[in-house]
Amino acid sequence: MTTRYRVEYALKSHRRDQLIEWIKGLLAVPFVLHSQPTAIYHEQSENLSVVAADTHQRYAEIFRDVENLIRDHIQHDRENTPGKSKLKLLVPTVGFFFTPLPLEDAFKWQDRQRFISRRRFVAPSFNDIRLILNSAQLLGLKRNTGLDLVTFDGDVTLYDDGACLTLDNPVIPRIIRLLRQGHKVGIVTAAGYTDAEKYYERLRGLLDEMKASPELTPADRQGLVVMGGESNFLFRYDASSPHLLSYVPRAEWLLPEMVSWKEDDITELLDIAESSLRACASNLNLPVAVLRKDRAVGVYPLDRSKIAREHLEETVLVVQNTVEGSAVGSRLPFCAFNGGNDVFVDIGDKSWGVRACQQYFGGIERTRTLHVGDQFLSAGANDFKARLASTTAWIASPGETVQLLDELEQIQGL
Ligand code: IMP
Ligand code: MG
Repeated sequence: MTTRYRVEYALKSHRRDQLIEWIKGLLAVPFVLHSQPTAIYHEQSENLSVVAADTHQRYAEIFRDVENLIRDHIQHDRENTPGKSKLKLLVPTVGFFFTPLPLEDAFKWQDRQRFISRRRFVAPSFNDIRLILNSAQLLGLKRNTGLDLVTFDGDVTLYDDGACLTLDNPVIPRIIRLLRQGHKVGIVTAAGYTDAEKYYERLRGLLDEMKASPELTPADRQGLVVMGGESNFLFRYDASSPHLLSYVPRAEWLLPEMVSWKEDDITELLDIAESSLRACASNLNLPVAVLRKDRAVGVYPLDRSKIAREHLEETVLVVQNTVEGSAVGSRLPFCAFNGGNDVFVDIGDKSWGVRACQQYFGGIERTRTLHVGDQFLSAGANDFKARLASTTAWIASPGETVQLLDELEQIQGL
């Protein structure tokens, strides 16, 4: 690697998912060798369908091989030799898998919906592979462990960035279906408020519908919690509250490790983050205001202007590095992320948020939990940490979340 390439690689690597990029590279080979860009659709349609069947077969074989590598990787983890798997050598950043991923079947399923192997000009893309991994995760849960808890990120996952969950949102009947089936549901969002009223404003459509729905029993309704500020404020559904949520005191849900997080450390960490955010905003001349909260500090644009992506990313990486390099940053978990048009640093992260939901519902296993979110890059993304606590599905829009839940319903019925 030349120095220049290495530098570019280092700078870009936080914006790539190495497992997905690696699979994409494997699929590019049969695509290049088998695609027929010069064939004419009308005249050679028979020939094209033969080629498509062949390409389908080759893609399926690659997914089967990757599936086996993941199985082997899981086995190494079980034998306490996680660094030794072949997959780890090929994709050094690869993490832990809580279930096997039936990738070959998932590919066949997605290929039926998306006709990936019929394409002649566009190779299997990042998004194709992301969606195949999601389908494989749903199949993996169905075949191996079962599913008790689904946690959802808020912005971009349930509703558009900065928007609210209104009554017309098609995700509402899907969440109600999950509750009716006895699943637990957690909304694990960075949005951090200390009072129920603020969450009611954001989530009103779902909460009102849950109250009105004749399909739900009181016990089903108890299956919903909201975890705000990543892992800082827990609310449970409560029909007797005017905001349909009530605050759950920390003593009732903190994990043992969280009890030892000291208030002084929290203040110190947020002080460091705040001064780093201020310095960065001034250095880049950003038109932002600083918002300091109980368990978070962030910058957001004045006058709703749009902050350049490069500036958001720079700010996240600066603040993350500064806090990481401080003594308190090594004692206390925190999460610095790019919220689309703001940057926040929260105490804790979604791995703690998801684990606290699991404990609150009586100790649900990580292998029986699914977190659905839109931010899974390794730096500046807040759903990424949920991978430590549960299986995950990576969606790119609220519409994809709806599709995922319908796919889950289909797969569960198989
Ligand atoms: P999420 O996608 O549901 O995790 O929500 C992230 C968004 O919540 C951020 O981009 C912010 O705009 C907003 N937000 C509001 N309060 C907080 C906070 O205390 N910490 C982090 N983000 C917050
Ligand atoms: Mg989000």
